[in-house]
Amino acid sequence: MADIHQEKNAADLTAKTAEERFGQLPMPSLEFTDEVAKETAHLYERVRHHIPEIEWPVHAPYIFAINRLKKQRNAVILAHNYQTPEIFHCVADISGDSLQLAAEAGMVDEEIIIQCGVHFMAETSKLLNPEKTVLIPDAKAGCSLAESITGEDIRLLREAHPGVPIITYVNTSAEVKAESDICCTSSNAVRVVESMGTDTVFLIPDEYLAQNVAKQTDVKILTWKGHCEVHERFTVEELLAYREADPGLQIIGHPECPPEVVDICDYAGSTSGMIEYARGQKPGARVMLVTECSMAANIEEEVVGVEFIKPCNLCPHMKRITLPKILDSLVYMREEVLVDPILAEKAKRAVERMVNLKSN
Ligand code: 13P
Ligand code: SF4
Repeated sequence: MADIHQEKNAADLTAKTAEERFGQLPMPSLEFTDEVAKETAHLYERVRHHIPEIEWPVHAPYIFAINRLKKQRNAVILAHNYQTPEIFHCVADISGDSLQLAAEAGMVDEEIIIQCGVHFMAETSKLLNPEKTVLIPDAKAGCSLAESITGEDIRLLREAHPGVPIITYVNTSAEVKAESDICCTSSNAVRVVESMGTDTVFLIPDEYLAQNVAKQTDVKILTWKGHCEVHERFTVEELLAYREADPGLQIIGHPECPPEVVDICDYAGSTSGMIEYARGQKPGARVMLVTECSMAANIEEEVVGVEFIKPCNLCPHMKRITLPKILDSLVYMREEVLVDPILAEKAKRAVERMVNLKSN
């Protein structure tokens, strides 16, 4: 596999690091003082169902320090819907699904972007903002889909199937995006497939997303054997057992789940699509989210009156991002995400083509 964490060219190796350009800041005190308690009290209200009061003095000093330092650094925090509640509700400036984060990343004013999500998301932000400094609090936050395919694999597919457009899921490295015609996310995949104007396309590397999209279009879809290690674990038996025990249950799933699992769901869509669907439920509804389990925790507070049932599948990569690591990012300016500029230019075209695709 290509080392997606080290895509530096020769010029970058001689360039100054983010720490050298911006300098380190002193590590703030992490005491739970009266000031910290007062300034973070409104944030505790947003997470009180998930963080016991006795644990708040551990989190609050980090939250207080991060929110101060991000202003001082002129930094913005982008967080995916799978981040933990204390990140999602207490330090994120912008949150959303992969498409929303990519679109927002292209519009931020701040000089520094801290990406709370996985590495391909930080790379996407860097592609869209080559002049900005993009940091990820843990550079090892990868993704089983992104790791399932390389740029060389795409070149071989193109040779074997000349003329067939190659659509890659955003959950891929910049090297793979650079070899692709266009990107897609789970919220726009059908639209992207149909925008190509051909009777056959490649939609890679997520085999299940491709199979789920194939059910919604007449375009023939060729795919790859990549899977999301979180969503591939859901089974028909598990969902049917929940449904049998509670016939009124609304089951909503992510299209990275196997097609037979999606077939049982009342709705399937991107993480933000699932949130919208849950918002549309009547008070008293019971909704099972067939996805990463932080999602339910993040939306419970605002989707009032709906009871969420959460099968607890955690994404170990998303969970590498923590408050202490976000604080380290701001203090030490690490880990900087760099992409070879020639590769970046090509990859950016595939991402921008997707972001600029009109809704109709
Ligand atoms: P979306 O937020 O685009 O639905 O993607 C889900 C996911 O698995 C991201 O890693
Ligand atoms: Fe990758 Fe799945 Fe984790 Fe998303 S949830 S980052 S697709 S492994």
